[in-house]
Amino acid sequence: MNIAVIGLGFVGLTTALGFCEKDFNVTGYEIDDKKLNMFVSKEIPFYEPFLKEKLNKYLGNKFRIYTNMKEVLSEAETIFFCVGTPQSENGDAILDYLFNAIGESLLNINIKSFKVLIIKSTIPPSTTKDIIKPYLEKKGVVIGKDIGLANNPEFLREGYAWDDFINPDRIIVGVEDKQSESIIKKVYEKFDAPLYAVSYNTGEFIKYLSNTLLSTLISYSNEMSIIADLIGGIDIPKSFKILHMDKRWCGSPAGMSSYVYPGCGYGGYCLPKDTSALACLSRKKGYEPNMLKSNLIINDYIKKYYVKKINKENKKTEKIGILGLSFKPDSDDIRLCPAFDIISLLKNEGFKNINAFDPISNEIFKNAYQKLNINYFNSLDAIVGGSDILVIVTGWQEFKEKQYMFKNKKVYDLRYIL
Ligand SMILES: NC(=O)c1ccc[n+]([C@@H]2O[C@H](COP(=O)([O-])OP(=O)(O)OC[C@H]3O[C@@H](n4cnc5c(N)ncnc54)[C@H](O)[C@@H]3O)[C@@H](O)[C@H]2O)c1
Repeated sequence: MNIAVIGLGFVGLTTALGFCEKDFNVTGYEIDDKKLNMFVSKEIPFYEPFLKEKLNKYLGNKFRIYTNMKEVLSEAETIFFCVGTPQSENGDAILDYLFNAIGESLLNINIKSFKVLIIKSTIPPSTTKDIIKPYLEKKGVVIGKDIGLANNPEFLREGYAWDDFINPDRIIVGVEDKQSESIIKKVYEKFDAPLYAVSYNTGEFIKYLSNTLLSTLISYSNEMSIIADLIGGIDIPKSFKILHMDKRWCGSPAGMSSYVYPGCGYGGYCLPKDTSALACLSRKKGYEPNMLKSNLIINDYIKKYYVKKINKENKKTEKIGILGLSFKPDSDDIRLCPAFDIISLLKNEGFKNINAFDPISNEIFKNAYQKLNINYFNSLDAIVGGSDILVIVTGWQEFKEKQYMFKNKKVYDLRYIL
């Protein structure tokens, strides 16, 4: 299979040469003459280990660069777009380079042979579905029939790009037509990594999920270093290196990944009070802790968000069954638990029939929050039978295992366990 790569910057050049390494014939297209001249003299315009050697190895045989788009696309079954999507003044992604490249490709594609346009550039979620697909359809092509369309976000790291491309840990393809999916799967057959074919929006979202987590972790670390510096007497690098020794980073039970998973808020004895206490101390020291403040705001808002949703979608007379009261499974700690806030908010909205069941925390919750005045059930079977709507607030294994009981019920799985 022949592959075309449009845009031979950092990602595009790595992609083109990486596919050569996997034994494909690759054609490349780049609009920057300066870069083109460098490639011709087998030089690369940036530093990245292995790429120069690979360019020397493949240019002129497996890898051919043309200045004419028609030639670039003539044999290609898949066209990877790797042009830049930089940031505009207001923070949006600029898509002009991508649309110029797609537009020019369309003018040079013979749709008699099916080709898949694959966006490797990073594009905000919903771009393929709401902007690129309608744009192509307006040009008169039918997606999945005349032409294929997919996004395929790239996760490589500068400095390790070659190894990351050749040995990826996962391959994500946002694709919604079968022919494109099967062609892309053929391309990636040669890579030893699981390939996830997902919706257009999911494909794009996964990339941003990854990058925003990384940026959040960095900003978090930086904010903590400011607070530590203001408090004084703290060995900042040592503190962070010792933080890294937490078993949870290395995939032990209840590892770090369980904290990078959505739910309906953290609770219990430690996280809420410790986050608040450090935010207060930071303010006393003269620094407004924006990350910690946002962290607390989101923890408060997530419960309101779900209650608003339940309120919007249901009648006040429905019997609501709250599944789980403790702040996390395998614990009967109900201090500052999301269940209390969610039940209170539902009552404020006017829901009167609220049932609750927790495998081990019914009594302790009832005693602590007597004023709530709700109905407690002693088994999952009983609460399911006695409720119209089920709201999973704690991710108990029992709820996951016995989800067959929920078959005919409306379920709000606020822990994403089902
Ligand atoms: N750099 C990274 O680490 C990285 C990692 C993963 C994903 N990405 C994403 O991949 C995309 C490309 O990133 P990059 O770092 O390679 O950018 P880059 O600026 O290095 O490369 C883009 C190239 O596309 C060329 N180009 C622009 N319009 C063109 C057109 N119409 N036809 C042909 N070539 C054209 C440019 O001249 C440039 O050489 C971006 O969306 C980026 O967010 C980057």
